[in-house]
Amino acid sequence: MIIETERLILRPFIKEDYEDVFEYLHEPSVHCFECMRLNTISDAEKEVASRVNETEYYFAIVLKENNKVIGEIDAFPEASDSHSENNVIKDVFSPCWMLNKDYQHKGYAYEAAYAFFNYLFESKGARRIYAYTEDYNTASKKLCEKLGMRKEAEYKEFISFVNNDDGTPLYENTLEYAVLKKEWNCHE
Ligand SMILES: CC(C)(COP(=O)(O)OP(=O)(O)OC[C@H]1O[C@@H](n2cnc3c(N)ncnc32)[C@H](O)[C@@H]1OP(=O)(O)O)[C@@H](O)C(=O)NCCC(=O)NCCS
Repeated sequence: MIIETERLILRPFIKEDYEDVFEYLHEPSVHCFECMRLNTISDAEKEVASRVNETEYYFAIVLKENNKVIGEIDAFPEASDSHSENNVIKDVFSPCWMLNKDYQHKGYAYEAAYAFFNYLFESKGARRIYAYTEDYNTASKKLCEKLGMRKEAEYKEFISFVNNDDGTPLYENTLEYAVLKKEWNCHE
């Protein structure tokens, strides 16, 4: 699947993308992506090779003007309530988004996410899209708001991605934003 916007192409990863991916994943700028850190270029090659067969839900964000992979966006289908056996329809998605820092604050994230949300709602059966973001992540919060997502919850000391200097878990406050398909139709 390929999604085209004015300035971007969203397409599945190809193995040649590893240098661009290494550029933005060798030092993740937020704690929640620490587990994705790539220490070496060879790690990047392996990581990108592991992505190439995923063609529906995991996209490289490519700048049309120079064909560079400037980031990524993905979301996979989930059931709305994992505690209920009656509810097995996978119509809920939770996107991860990340841009190379040299390409932030230019509206690319919004352009990519807007097109990705349209794709999920129109072509992949999405009923609800929700996003978690830490309370200090202004850029991600702004992106959610610009996409018309409602702030649904604020969870205190919800999750830990890294440790404090003394080795204890650093717990972070997490916000949840969401938009339903019927709200998205109104947003357009
Ligand atoms: C989150 C992320 C993808 C947003 O990218 P971006 O380049 O800032 O997004 P855009 O340029 O499309 O901006 C979207 C809106 O947020 C605003 N914004 C972005 N950063 C901001 C900041 N630090 N302070 C205030 N507003 C900000 C933009 O101005 C824009 O709103 P506007 O058009 O009304 O001005 C990017 O910051 C990133 O990759 N961060 C690291 C990874 C990450 O945190 N992922 C999310 C984990 S939950």
